[in-house]
Amino acid sequence: MQFIDLMAQYKLLKDEIDENIRAVLDAGQYIGGPYVKELEAKLAEFVGRKHCITCANGTDALQIAYMIYGIGEGDAVFCPDITFISSTEPSKMFGAASVFCDVQPDTYNLCPKSLERQIKAVLAEGKLTPKAVVAVDILGNPCDYDEIIPICEKYGLILIEDAAQSFGASYKGKRCGAFGQIATTSFFPAKPLGCYGDGGAIFVDDDELDALIRSVCVHGKGPRGKYDNVRVGVNSRLDTLQAAILLPKLKALADHEIDERQEVAKRYNEALKENFQTPFVQEDCISVYAQYAILAKDTETRDRVVNHITEKKIPNMIYYPAPQHGLPVFENEPTYNEEFTVSNDYCARTLSLPMHPYLGKDEQQIIIDAIMEAL
Ligand SMILES: Cc1ncc(COP(=O)(O)O)c(C=O)c1O
Repeated sequence: MQFIDLMAQYKLLKDEIDENIRAVLDAGQYIGGPYVKELEAKLAEFVGRKHCITCANGTDALQIAYMIYGIGEGDAVFCPDITFISSTEPSKMFGAASVFCDVQPDTYNLCPKSLERQIKAVLAEGKLTPKAVVAVDILGNPCDYDEIIPICEKYGLILIEDAAQSFGASYKGKRCGAFGQIATTSFFPAKPLGCYGDGGAIFVDDDELDALIRSVCVHGKGPRGKYDNVRVGVNSRLDTLQAAILLPKLKALADHEIDERQEVAKRYNEALKENFQTPFVQEDCISVYAQYAILAKDTETRDRVVNHITEKKIPNMIYYPAPQHGLPVFENEPTYNEEFTVSNDYCARTLSLPMHPYLGKDEQQIIIDAIMEAL
């Protein structure tokens, strides 16, 4: 059994993927070219943004977002306490402070109340300038943007949507990746839209930002090209092969995989809701369940389930064992007396189960039975 069965998808899309790989090899163009162009256009259209700029991975995408807004020394970047380090790593890299916020008890996404508390605390202390909010659609479930956007507007903060886990999800009819001045995603193989290596993308509506990002991605290239460097940039691009692989995968995601993920989640929900806190998705929203995470009633129960299902060879993961504020790398970040009650509790009780669009009923029943046995 696989935690995420990438081979099942490959078997289904093999002809198209193989054909595209062969076409790239036959053409001998490995960087840029028509596949990258076509993919960027299709990604932008799917998300509902004017521009998509592909890059080397989701971590670079976030770093570039920080770079184009000049986030650095003396700035505060607000970020949920439950995320992967990439969301906030650039803060440390560029000398800004990561100010963590607690998460919501049902979606585990950035808590708007905690966000506003932390913004006020930073302003009251007067040492840092509130600059940006990174809203992470954790586990593939969209943040509450109707609450978050007005807070960003009230305090003049840049909103960066980290949609690394939520490509294909939507919030009240709008796709994830379409929120904030800038949004980023990841095509890491295990993501809802994954390639066969590393990949990422940045989404914006503004033409000037699009041009700026394209420059930063290629060593700060200027109007006369790659050797006319006008700013400090990075080398971050999506390989042509990965673009060619992503095209049929994007079609499969849009055509049926988002729906199949809902079916798998529904079956888990029905079977587990009596004994666990199962995922909550806000009304008019769609999660892509990048991870299907349940919360046990306490740590002891969670660990008992983990031990039992691991013994039965059922793959499982804990996303995440520690909240960001508890990571050694962030031990000196200001916390402003925030208690992180929800994020601490989430990490103590969470457990992620095998989840992918091709998880059949029989295999899923084996997982469910093993969990019930453990209880
Ligand atoms: C929330 C979040 N942000 C950013 C990233 C970074 O993406 P990548 O692995 O493509 O660098 C990830 C990947 O795990 C993620 O989960």
